[in-house]
Amino acid sequence: MGAAYPIIEHFYDVVVVGAGGAGLRAALGTVEQGLRTACISKVYPTRSHTVAAQGGISAALGNMGPDDWRFHMYDTVKGSDWLGDQDAIEYMCREAIPAVLELERYGVPFSRTADGKIYQRAFGGMTTNYGEGQAQRTCAAADVTGHAILHTLYQQSLKHSADFFIEYIVLDLVMHDGACRGVLAWCLDDGSVHLFRGQQVILATGGYGRCYFSCTSAHTVTGDGNAMALRAGLALQDMEFIQFHPTGIYGAGCLITEGARGEGGYLTNSLGERFMPNYAPHAKDLASRDVVSRAITLEINAGRGLGPKKDYVHLHLEHLPAEVIHQRLPGIAETSRIFAGVDVTKQPIPVLPTVHYNMGGVPTNYKAEVVTLRRGDPDYVVPGLMAIGETACVSVHGANRLGSNSLLDLVVFGRAAALRCGELLSPGQAHAPLPADACDAALARFDRIRHGAGELSAAEVRAAMQTTMQNRAAVFRTEETLRLGVAEIADIADSFSRVKLSDQSLIWNTELVETLELDNLLGQAHVAIAAAANRQESRGGHARDDYPRRDDENWLKHTLTWRSDNQVSIDYRPVHLYTLTNDVAAIPPKERVY
Ligand code: FUM
Repeated sequence: MGAAYPIIEHFYDVVVVGAGGAGLRAALGTVEQGLRTACISKVYPTRSHTVAAQGGISAALGNMGPDDWRFHMYDTVKGSDWLGDQDAIEYMCREAIPAVLELERYGVPFSRTADGKIYQRAFGGMTTNYGEGQAQRTCAAADVTGHAILHTLYQQSLKHSADFFIEYIVLDLVMHDGACRGVLAWCLDDGSVHLFRGQQVILATGGYGRCYFSCTSAHTVTGDGNAMALRAGLALQDMEFIQFHPTGIYGAGCLITEGARGEGGYLTNSLGERFMPNYAPHAKDLASRDVVSRAITLEINAGRGLGPKKDYVHLHLEHLPAEVIHQRLPGIAETSRIFAGVDVTKQPIPVLPTVHYNMGGVPTNYKAEVVTLRRGDPDYVVPGLMAIGETACVSVHGANRLGSNSLLDLVVFGRAAALRCGELLSPGQAHAPLPADACDAALARFDRIRHGAGELSAAEVRAAMQTTMQNRAAVFRTEETLRLGVAEIADIADSFSRVKLSDQSLIWNTELVETLELDNLLGQAHVAIAAAANRQESRGGHARDDYPRRDDENWLKHTLTWRSDNQVSIDYRPVHLYTLTNDVAAIPPKERVY
């Protein structure tokens, strides 16, 4: 196989896969510590999906009123419906404050208060005093916060001389003796194949939103790192927890930031009623996303949706002063005009829940090291492999992520990964030898897909997968829809072997890229829907009509899923219901009331 694909070898201390917010923060942190770092990305770094994050990044800075990282921790544990690991949540909420101030120093152009501090807005589920008041904790650069952070981190990474390999498709992890030793990648520009050796490989490849038909994710969001971990025989964790953002533009799916409700926007049904107070009397339109998405779905199901098909609701911003829209929400005003034909200063926006975020991913500890269940040890560290950002399941979001905790997760755990690399590695250490056939399995898969000669197109298989996930693993789920969904996804995954490519070239072959991405998505769709069918309770983003209550007695545990020969197997890890330090007490499970 190596003869058909000559391999160019590179040796680095650290190899980062992905150049979104998490990957760039990690790459910057490792080069700052003198570690030679390669950052490999399938897109130009500033096109990574972090660029689309709108509303902001949470940190209890207290710029707009009293706040405390302990309140932030309480909200995050409650928002996670108690499935989050509390040691990791403590770490994230405490580190949020220095992490955001560090971004400010790096040059992120945050919006400002009248006295020059970072502007902070209200977001769903973010409270003061353990649920008593509404916090203004989400630090914003208008409604383009991800764009501002991504560009700043890329500039800083270039300044610190990380080596970028851009428009390279990473095909697989190179594993040996149970450790990760590097990755194999295909360069789109000249068709060459590269082995990147790293003492640590950091996966920062984002989520797998494109398993679904309607999502806020870019078309490139195909969970490539998760899929590589699955193919390496590692487990993914909590894949059944998929977040629907309440306000995607009807028909187009584009995100309308929760910041719109944070600035005073509200939802109505076809009767013109503000319905959120019926579902969350206290938090109303700023309840957590799972709660608001379910409320919208219930209004639509009860016949109170708008439009010819009665299948959306309205988000109102017309009552807000025009300068608030122009200063704080210019991006969503433009998106609404282009994708919904709406002038938000005069008309409501048609919205409905749209897939937005994956709480599940590659399990890690709070130092970003990948863990797995091995011989009874649920926290066994896989040598040489880390995961961060939406790829990882740390798990700080548990069953449901709070808005603006994602940008935070990226920078806090990107930095944590870099710090851990600094502890574990010395610059320029010799690499352990690899057997001659170390890349054969990955190359054989690549070659098989490239020369696929069946009768199906990748587009047909992708459409079948996206439709099944959309219909069978939706906001509300039942035994029947999920059982059918598992069988359908297994059949669709099986049909992948019948995909035919019309182009076998190696230079900028986008058909081959999309087919490799489809293979990645299929594995994740399969484990996600199997995990959803398995979990017989409702918790956070996983709402079962047939098991409407949270069941802590039987299900307060993380799901682990493996996939081999188109079969999914399942086991569990305990949730960390303990804190990292004695500065804060663990928060015992209780009913979530908004
Ligand atoms: O609504 C938003 O601006 C999205 C933020 C997030 O997902 O954290």
